[in-house]
Amino acid sequence: MKGIILHGGHGTRLRPLTHTGPKQLLPIANKPMSEYCLESIRDAGIDEIAIIIGGVGSNKVREYYGDGKEFGVNITYIKQEEPKGIAHAIRLCKKFVNDEKFLVFLGDNIIQKSIKDFVENFKNSDYDSTVLLCEVDNPSRFGIADVKNGKIIKITEKPKNPISNLAVTGIYLLTPLIFKIIDNLKPSWRNELEITDALDDLLKQNQNVSYERITDYWKDTGTPDDIIHANGEIIKKMEKKFEGKKERDVVLDGKIIVGKNSDIESNVKIIEPVIIGSNCKILENSIIGPNVSIGNDSIISVSSIKNSIIMEKCRINSFTKIKNSIIANNSDIKDEEGDEKIFLLGEGSKISL
Ligand code: TTP
Repeated sequence: MKGIILHGGHGTRLRPLTHTGPKQLLPIANKPMSEYCLESIRDAGIDEIAIIIGGVGSNKVREYYGDGKEFGVNITYIKQEEPKGIAHAIRLCKKFVNDEKFLVFLGDNIIQKSIKDFVENFKNSDYDSTVLLCEVDNPSRFGIADVKNGKIIKITEKPKNPISNLAVTGIYLLTPLIFKIIDNLKPSWRNELEITDALDDLLKQNQNVSYERITDYWKDTGTPDDIIHANGEIIKKMEKKFEGKKERDVVLDGKIIVGKNSDIESNVKIIEPVIIGSNCKILENSIIGPNVSIGNDSIISVSSIKNSIIMEKCRINSFTKIKNSIIANNSDIKDEEGDEKIFLLGEGSKISL
């Protein structure tokens, strides 16, 4: 079987973070979110992977993953000139897939459980597709499946009166039959070729679409809140590890990961789950956590930060408490109590004071 990771798209809901690169390279627990997809596919026994790239900073994807050897896979890059939809992106992989069954993983979907069994079941079946479903609390935001006797009867996109709370996730097991269906698809109201329309046509033709249920964590990380939530969940599942230096009175309890050469000064408080990369300094009474990741080479002093993602090479010295924030590489935040504020902000920045 072959694997496909979708690494294109508009990323409008994550602006301005997506002005300089694709959202799938944004870090969750200090690792690009699409790397979790790659690992899932590889760990399911698939090592031939195509990555669909397109849009701003797609060269960064090639730079990061290279030919895939470092990650234990072979990578082929396929360019999508414009983000014309998930089904459009899949169709670009026709030659790559050839006549094999394949797995499509949206690069912004995070799942914790192994998908190996799902892949094996599909390989050994005569299904034309297996869709991975997951129970959600807010079904009217998702494509929702109507299921009967182990098969899917219908998928309804963002239903007003949902028939179930089983959302269609961004992980699809498919056969080359889908290419014929996509060839006959009409663009949707938003001018995209939609995967839900393709699956719906498949259902109308033969009803041979099965499903598997994800009972563990799954998140479609389209918005800042989704990414921050996934960040906390992933850190919670990681092994506690301390490779840095700390002064004697610093207490580190629970899921706290600190990388090489990072310094934690006296009077700092860290509340799990927290991950701190390498070569960081956490200084002067800072309170970090819960649910914070700090990228490599960052320096944090006098600051209180919770529920946030701080990327690499950031310098934060802020008396204003920081929460629910995503702060990209090389950001500098300085704030003395009572000071007037000075801003140098890129297009589409968001600030709540
Ligand atoms: P979406 O999150 O549905 O769309 P988007 O990335 O354009 O973001 P937004 O709605 O905020 O503007 O896309 C789901 C996944 O599929 C995501 O990983 C991006 C990828 N994708 C492509 O690779 N090509 C495409 O043409 C589209 C629409 C999405």
